[in-house]
Amino acid sequence: MPVKHSALIEWRDGQPYASAFQDVYFSTDNGLLETEHVFLQGNHLARRWQTLQTQRFTIAETGFGTGLNFLCAAKLWLATAPKEARLHFISVEKYPLSLAEISMALQLWPSLMDLIEPFLAQYAHLLRGTSSMLFDHRVQLSLCIGDATTAYQSHAITPTKPVIDAWFLDGFSPAKNPTMWQAALFEKMALLSNSKTTFATFTSAGAVRRALTQVGFAVIKQAGFGKKREMLCGHFIGSADAH
Ligand SMILES: C[S@@+](CC[C@H](N)C(=O)[O-])C[C@H]1O[C@@H](n2cnc3c(N)ncnc32)[C@H](O)[C@@H]1O
Repeated sequence: MPVKHSALIEWRDGQPYASAFQDVYFSTDNGLLETEHVFLQGNHLARRWQTLQTQRFTIAETGFGTGLNFLCAAKLWLATAPKEARLHFISVEKYPLSLAEISMALQLWPSLMDLIEPFLAQYAHLLRGTSSMLFDHRVQLSLCIGDATTAYQSHAITPTKPVIDAWFLDGFSPAKNPTMWQAALFEKMALLSNSKTTFATFTSAGAVRRALTQVGFAVIKQAGFGKKREMLCGHFIGSADAH
């Protein structure tokens, strides 16, 4: 069944703004550079992909939004990872943008055009539940429409084994969207993580840092992007009761 597009957005200086959350989709300084700094570098993806020893790498994201994080990750993968390996990018979005809105938002990034075109052609057929999209036979996107915690708790999109290699924690600021940053999500992250799993997020909120530490992530604060002084990233070190 076709999906119901429920995002409530307005445009400010040509950039999407979420009226319902009073928050931006990405940094007004430069969303693309923010994605590279926070999510790609925060998870050390270029280095890991250049030396990848496995056939598969899985990223899990909360809050797909305009797809900017996905498209930047896919572009880096195609440029750095071994040809025979496949990237599986899993993302969850509760309030999907319409095709017209997402097309307009992505016009901001001409350097991603080679991927934007095949992406929009597939996004046009977005379904309720999970839609699977393929790019160059080397990148698979599983986009689930629903709440992030509920989706990751159900086994509809994630396997039962701890196989997530990198987490992208997006989803508006915890102060403006507290229900997304809940304990149940962090507990599920731990269950799906292993000793090589990393995470990165634009926020440096103390509650997020403490929650991630509690479930077994080693968390570090580093310089944020643009106006954001700090962000969080780190890796899973496990805890006695996590697995
Ligand atoms: C800051 S935007 C994400 C930007 C995005 N990563 C990008 O590349 O454009 C946050 C996204 O999280 C979504 N979101 C908010 N609460 C959510 C929830 N509980 N579950 C899933 N998605 C959620 C919003 O609708 C929005 O699209």
